[in-house]
Amino acid sequence: MAAPKMFDLEGRVAAVTGGNGGIGRGIAMGLAEAGAAVAILARNDEKNRATVAAIRELGTRTAAIKLDVTDRAALAPAMEAVERALGPIDILVNNAGISISRSSLKLEAEAWDRVLETNLHSCFFLSQIAARSMASRGAGGKIINIASEYSRFGAAGLTSYAAAKGGLVQMTKSLAVEFAARNIQVNAIVPGWIKTDMTIPAQSGTFYDEIITRTPAGRFGEPEEMAGAAVFLASHASDFVTGAIVYVDGGFAIR
Ligand SMILES: NC(=O)c1ccc[n+]([C@@H]2O[C@H](COP(=O)([O-])OP(=O)(O)OC[C@H]3O[C@@H](n4cnc5c(N)ncnc54)[C@H](OP(=O)(O)O)[C@@H]3O)[C@@H](O)[C@H]2O)c1
Repeated sequence: MAAPKMFDLEGRVAAVTGGNGGIGRGIAMGLAEAGAAVAILARNDEKNRATVAAIRELGTRTAAIKLDVTDRAALAPAMEAVERALGPIDILVNNAGISISRSSLKLEAEAWDRVLETNLHSCFFLSQIAARSMASRGAGGKIINIASEYSRFGAAGLTSYAAAKGGLVQMTKSLAVEFAARNIQVNAIVPGWIKTDMTIPAQSGTFYDEIITRTPAGRFGEPEEMAGAAVFLASHASDFVTGAIVYVDGGFAIR
C-alpha cells in the first residue's frame, strides 16, 4: 500500500548524525523507506558501511560520511560532503548522542564538555550550517532534534546529559521561532526507553523492572518505532508543525 503523498520524501535529501546504529539507524531506514536520499554521519566506518548497504537495498541513494560531531572544524566539511554526494540538504536529524553516568561530585570537566559538545553544541552548529543552505536556496527544510525524557525530569548521575537535552529542547523552540518565516520547521522527538546500545545497562535487573512498571505500554520501544514520527516531521505533513516536542515513549512522560 502506498503512503499518502504528504508523507512522501522522494527527491529530499536527509542527513542523520549517529545514523549507523540504534535510534539513528531506525530513523535513517524510515526516511529512506519514505523515499529520501539519506546520508549517515558517524564515527565507526564499519557500522556506517553496513547501514548504507541496508539503505541501498531499499532502492534509494545514500552516502556514509565519517564524522565525529565533537570536532567542530569537521562539521561544515561533512555537510558539504553530504551535499556533494546527494545534493542540497532538506532534512537534518540531530541524533548522535552519548550519556556518561557519574556522580556530579566526581564528574571531570572533560566528561561534562564531551556530553555537552555531542548532545547540544554540535546540534546547534549543524543546524546553523543546514539552515544556511536551506535559506540560501529559499527551499525551506526540516530540522529534527532527538531529545530525552531527561529534558524534563531530573536524574541523579546524569546531570550533564539532562542539561544537554534540556538545552536541546529550548534550542529547538528558539530556532523554530527564528526560522519559521523561512519555512524551516524545527521540532524534537523525545524517545522513551528504547532498546539500543545506550540502554543496555537498563535492559535487565531492578532498574528494568522499574522502567517497565513506570511505562504505561509496559515495554521498551524498538529503534524502528522512532521512524514514524521522524517521517512525519521530515515531510510536508508537518509543514504547520514547529517547535513541537513529540513524545514517542509508550506513555512514560504522562505518568
Ligand atoms: N535509547 C534510548 O532509550 C534513548 C532515549 C532518549 C533519547 N535517546 C537519544 O537518542 C539518540 C540515539 O541514542 P541511541 O540510544 O540510539 O544510542 P546508541 O545506540 O549508543 O547510538 C548512538 C549513535 O550516535 C553515534 N555517535 C556517538 N557519538 C558520536 C560522535 N561524537 N560523533 C558522531 N556520532 C556519534 C554513534 O555512532 P559512532 O559510535 O559510530 O560514532 C551511534 O550511531 C541519542 O541522542 C540519545 O541521547 C535515546
